Amino acid sequence: MDRRQRLFVGRVAARYPAFDKALGRPVTLDQRINLCRTDQQQASPLPYESRDILALSAFVAHQSRGIAITAGDDPQLKRFVEQGRNLFRQREGQLNLSCANCHDDNFDKHLAGSPITQAQPTGYPLYRLEWQSLASLERRLRSRMTGVRAQAYEYGAPELVALELYLMSRARGMPMETPAVRP
Ligand code: HEC
Repeated sequence: MDRRQRLFVGRVAARYPAFDKALGRPVTLDQRINLCRTDQQQASPLPYESRDILALSAFVAHQSRGIAITAGDDPQLKRFVEQGRNLFRQREGQLNLSCANCHDDNFDKHLAGSPITQAQPTGYPLYRLEWQSLASLERRLRSRMTGVRAQAYEYGAPELVALELYLMSRARGMPMETPAVRP
């Protein structure tokens, strides 16, 4: 890539999910890549969590490494950020826990030996040792939902995108660190 192209993709990942005018809703970086493939390249969309989509989004997001997150700044995203915040606080599943119960109230504690952390989305897609592969934030969120024995939303579902948007807007100002590594 030459310098101009690098500048163009440089900040992209730090502002996703972003509002798509034509669709009237936020799209994730993976969805944007697939929209470009279908609309601009007459290519077929890549399946969620496939090696190719993960590699492409890791490559694009890596160009944003060190750049401060600005996702959610767009006023058109306001109600979607709000939706994500509500989902984050809503108790779910047989364990009747919300994401916030662990990640806002207990982020300095441990659960079964693992530090709970603040659930920052800054390193995605990242390499997860437990899965021995690159993984998207959506895969991580879906595994958290089955963790509280709730039904996980489908990949690309509006609820999952809203949660992702909320986590990114909550991380505003933090630098992107893709691709990160987690246990
Ligand atoms: C019972 C407590 C608990 C609940 C409820 C919970 N999590 Fe987590 N979460 C954890 C723990 C512990 C980890 C780290 C260890 C692991 O991944 O298993 C984690 C990891 C994460 C990560 C990875 C952060 C990173 O640094 O890569 C994200 C993102 C996340 N959770 C989001 C969520 C969301 C969104 C929800 C609600 C749908 C949720 N979590 C519900 C305990 C919880």
